[in-house]
Amino acid sequence: MRFQILTLFPDALRALAGYSIIGRAIESGLLLLTATDIRAFTVDRHGTADDYQFGGGPGMVLKPEPVFAAVDDALAAIPDAERSATPVVLTSPQGHTLNQAIVDEFAAAPGLIIICGHYAGVDERIRAGLITHEVSIGDYVLTGGELAALVIIDAVSRFVPGVVGSAENVREDSITSGLLQHPLYTRPAEFRGQAVPEILRSGNHAEIERWRRRQSLERTLRMRPDLLDTAPLTNSDRAYLAGLGWNDDAA
Ligand code: ADE
Repeated sequence: MRFQILTLFPDALRALAGYSIIGRAIESGLLLLTATDIRAFTVDRHGTADDYQFGGGPGMVLKPEPVFAAVDDALAAIPDAERSATPVVLTSPQGHTLNQAIVDEFAAAPGLIIICGHYAGVDERIRAGLITHEVSIGDYVLTGGELAALVIIDAVSRFVPGVVGSAENVREDSITSGLLQHPLYTRPAEFRGQAVPEILRSGNHAEIERWRRRQSLERTLRMRPDLLDTAPLTNSDRAYLAGLGWNDDAA
């Protein structure tokens, strides 16, 4: 999977992408990450990448010329057969909020070009003429789109075969499966007066699965009841939730 990041702060991206699971996946060649400085594509001798907005107003706006040139350059580096299937993503608080459906769509692509938005905004012609997806990572405003780009890269990379253990585990993870995760325990069996539930130490795998499923349902109902509207639920899940006071009318 190829990630081409266009940013005013390439070093920040490179540094953060060097760690842990993502860092190892880059090292082993499963992921390809390039962070390109948009300033390298500026057309004046001062390297001006942003400018005041027409009509007046606070903050600087990312100029169209260097961004178009940087995207052209990024597209030229992609094999012909993969170019049209490569989303061009802008990170901005105006975008669709990132969720598993968007992550799945991106993970199915051969790669992503991600333009990190400038904190005041980008020239509208970038939005109209270049990008295929505009993505926010939540309803709050960051000082730049770099952290949002890293969040997208991290979430998408988990679905690239080989990056995380087995693909099956990734699909079973919290949210991806449609429900929140059940409680997890490791040793010791007793800690500061809190014991690991007896069932987990029983060796009865069918009962353990049943317990875990119910814990997931209970936690989802308590923390994220909205997820229950779209989660794949069995009749027995529904009966269990009804016993907890869940009102199934919306589903
Ligand atoms: N840039 C600034 N705030 C952002 C957000 N919430 N998501 C994505 N990009 C951003």
